[in-house]
Amino acid sequence: MQRTSLLLLAAAAFLSAAMVAVHAGPPPPVKLSPDFYSQTCPRAERIIAEVIQSKQMANPTTAAGVLRVFFHDCFVTGCDASVLIAPTHYAKSEKDADINHSLPGDAFDAVVRSKLALELECPGVVSCADVLALASRVLVTMTGGPRYPVPLGRKDSLSSSPTTPDVELPHSNFTIGRIIELFVAKGFTVQEMVALSGAHTLGFSHCQEFASRIYNYRDKGGNPAPFDPSMNPTYAKGLQAACQDYQKDPTIAAFNDIMTPGKFDNMYYVNLERGLGLLSTDEDLWSDVRTKPFVQRYAANNTDFFEDFAKAMEKLSMYGVKTGADGEIRRRCDTYNGGPTTSPLPTTQ
Ligand code: HEM
Repeated sequence: MQRTSLLLLAAAAFLSAAMVAVHAGPPPPVKLSPDFYSQTCPRAERIIAEVIQSKQMANPTTAAGVLRVFFHDCFVTGCDASVLIAPTHYAKSEKDADINHSLPGDAFDAVVRSKLALELECPGVVSCADVLALASRVLVTMTGGPRYPVPLGRKDSLSSSPTTPDVELPHSNFTIGRIIELFVAKGFTVQEMVALSGAHTLGFSHCQEFASRIYNYRDKGGNPAPFDPSMNPTYAKGLQAACQDYQKDPTIAAFNDIMTPGKFDNMYYVNLERGLGLLSTDEDLWSDVRTKPFVQRYAANNTDFFEDFAKAMEKLSMYGVKTGADGEIRRRCDTYNGGPTTSPLPTTQ
């Protein structure tokens, strides 16, 4: 008898603890899964792949642009398409942040086109956050990179802050220490940070991002030099010539990977060993003892790079994802379903 009441007491205590947990704690995380749309929109991946492939063929800068947009989305309040929201008269958005001004229009266009095609086939089903994650993978593989799993079922954000991106994202004048801190704070290791930086095997950087390395350079002690001495001299002089009018024409840019700019490969790391890193944050990965061993490893072995990049991208694609009532499935990727206000009403999707 005593034993039964003890058991009952224990059961009651357990139930009330569970009820407190239900009421007070966050909802249990909904699991994302690669076949999330297998019943509701079975051709979703195929549709996205077709649209993205033809966009990339017409505009080969799309791959790098989408990959960067994806990173800027995920690192700011999670992979929730918050970066896709267009600013309006009523509300600014992540697009207004300084660091996002250079995100290319072709990248957003690629997502818009994919979403349009999806809405024709299965309206209101596939989130913009999932479109961006799948488009990034299509483009990584299309340019020669690894294929990795992309679990699906993300919801789209109900907000988009114009100030958060400049706080949460790494800038080209940061030290490696500061970049490590940013990544570690989000649960990424130094190795994952180095592997993800391999995305700079694609795309461009505008001259203003590396101008301080090639014009009026001063070392940490304030001593002047013709250019950052960690740079290969021929490379530095080439960039000085290419960027000479950058203040008049801020659109001038250079390839991040000068050797194989359109190919997703480990050449980015090989370049760093040779002083051919474009941004100081790239080249510093070679000089910093915390990151150099990984640069050496990836430069020596493309398979190692692909394996680690694939794992890190999958992890990045899961960062801070929203599920359930935390988000919605936008009908248009650039605006909330509730209209262009700062806090739209959530839908019940
Ligand atoms: C580790 C710290 C990082 C820093 C400091 C950094 C900084 C930058 C900067 C300054 C640019 C040039 C932007 C422009 O001038 O238009 C750029 C371009 C790019 N970044 Fe990063 N980035 C970092 C990490 C990443 C990661 C993790 C990814 C993706 C996984 C990424 C993907 C790209 C791509 C693909 C481009 C080329 C964009 C284009 O051509 O349109 N970056 N990055």
